[in-house]
Amino acid sequence: MVIAIDGPAASGKGTVAKKLAEHLGVPYLDTGLLYRAVARDVEARGGELEDAAAAVSAAQSIDAQSLGDPGLRGPLAGDKASIIAKIPAVRAALLDYQRNFARSCGEGAVLDGRDIGTVVCPEADIKIFVTASDEARAQRRYLEHQGRGENVAYEVVLEDLRRRDARDRDRSVAPLEAARDALHLDTTTLDADAAFAAVLALIAAQITR
Ligand code: CDP
Repeated sequence: MVIAIDGPAASGKGTVAKKLAEHLGVPYLDTGLLYRAVARDVEARGGELEDAAAAVSAAQSIDAQSLGDPGLRGPLAGDKASIIAKIPAVRAALLDYQRNFARSCGEGAVLDGRDIGTVVCPEADIKIFVTASDEARAQRRYLEHQGRGENVAYEVVLEDLRRRDARDRDRSVAPLEAARDALHLDTTTLDADAAFAAVLALIAAQITR
């Protein structure tokens, strides 16, 4: 069973996806890490994020072992990822990696991102589109900053998040959008445990339908 989870930044999709994979005992791929790693590698080689040739070359030589790099976490790396994620050839170069991952997992897999249900795994058994209000998402990211001792104003976090969402939604290839057959989950008022319980209920309802 392949489960595709998509949604905007800080919607809770990653938390839900990871818990679901653990619960089902299947592998999990956070596809955002691939885009983050491409942006990291472009800059490490002295390139510009807008340079399509440099970004494609980094995407073609992505090292799966380097995806655990803590430097890939955080909003700045996410923002840089969304710049190279607009480049169609970068997306094409990362497509095989993601599809091979889903295909090679015999028992099933959980993938999360922006275009899993629409482009990467359009045949996924279950598709879930996770959302939350802009303010709730910004508040989560703001608290993460505070937890790391970073002094960033809530308004700045909210503005950054909206800018990245707009970049992801408005790009020409594989924009952030729900698949037509996706189940929808709004986590605005849900904590991680409640969001996970809601996802399990959505999946159970879909399976028994
Ligand atoms: O965790 P968060 O939602 O903040 O970000 P992420 O999932 O790590 O994704 C970082 C960026 O990568 C996104 O803003 C997208 O621009 C891009 N991305 C994408 O285009 N397609 C995906 N399947 C996953 C991420």
